[in-house]
Amino acid sequence: MEILKTKPQMQHWSKQKKRESKTICFVPTMGYLHKGHTSLLDKGKPLCDELVLSIFVNPTQFGPKEDLDAYPSDIENDLALAKKAGVTAVFLPNKESIYPKNFQTQINLQHLPQFLCGKFRPVHFGGVATVVAKLFNIVMPDIAIFGQKDYQQLQIIRQLTLDLDFDIKILGGQIIREQDGLAMSSRNAYLTDKQRASAICLSKALNLAKELVVKGEKKAALIQKELQDFIHAHSETAVEYISFCDPATLEKVEQIDAQVLLALAVKVGATRLIDNSLIG
Ligand code: PAJ
Repeated sequence: MEILKTKPQMQHWSKQKKRESKTICFVPTMGYLHKGHTSLLDKGKPLCDELVLSIFVNPTQFGPKEDLDAYPSDIENDLALAKKAGVTAVFLPNKESIYPKNFQTQINLQHLPQFLCGKFRPVHFGGVATVVAKLFNIVMPDIAIFGQKDYQQLQIIRQLTLDLDFDIKILGGQIIREQDGLAMSSRNAYLTDKQRASAICLSKALNLAKELVVKGEKKAALIQKELQDFIHAHSETAVEYISFCDPATLEKVEQIDAQVLLALAVKVGATRLIDNSLIG
């Protein structure tokens, strides 16, 4: 497994593989890998000749009051997991390599970032879109894989790939959960034991919504109210949003007649957790 720390090194490696007619699959991450990340590597491994992982905590997708400085990191463990998953190259750039002095370009989508997390994290998706476009140009993959855990991010990247004519196939990987249902996240490491116990309310709320829909409830607002009460019955929780929306456009849905996306963002203590499920 090669470890490439600069843009020219990574680009040179990818160009060489292309000259050899090798196909490249790419999984971008911010590190502190867990089974959610490795499931994406496992999905990608049989699809291509080369499997590339990037680890870069992208500063531009964090708002001023967010957890950039506290973001967890364990590069040694990440590299061990990557090797075990059959990664052939890890791109591990530093901040200066990705954002040299006088960097000034930002990619902003017009529509998709207006919903869900984008409403509460105004700079987030501009930062994600820009860094992912840069990573695509540096790694030059044939396939890139993103988790459905960050559903809105996945949709934004699909759109960006279409709009900017990247010749890259975007695949989604299913949400990987802890045994009790909590969606795996690097941010789960912030939770105290008590908060960890409360955090189960997100996946339980998704299940509760499914039960209500199966029983015949179709009014999004009524289900939202039930879910909010259910979540707030758990200590240290504060709902940021509970949204029923169109899975393609992310526009709000009032009546659950077809398949909808139910997406949640909940603060548990100071930690912001998200989860989602397709329903109906
Ligand atoms: P990060 O949060 O490290 O996530 C990297 C990838 O892992 C994303 O595609 C995310 O959706 C996926 N992932 C995280 N938890 C998952 C889970 N429980 N099950 C399945 N997939 C999961 O997302 C980012 O980094 C960044 O925004 C990035 C795309 C790298 C751009 O900086």
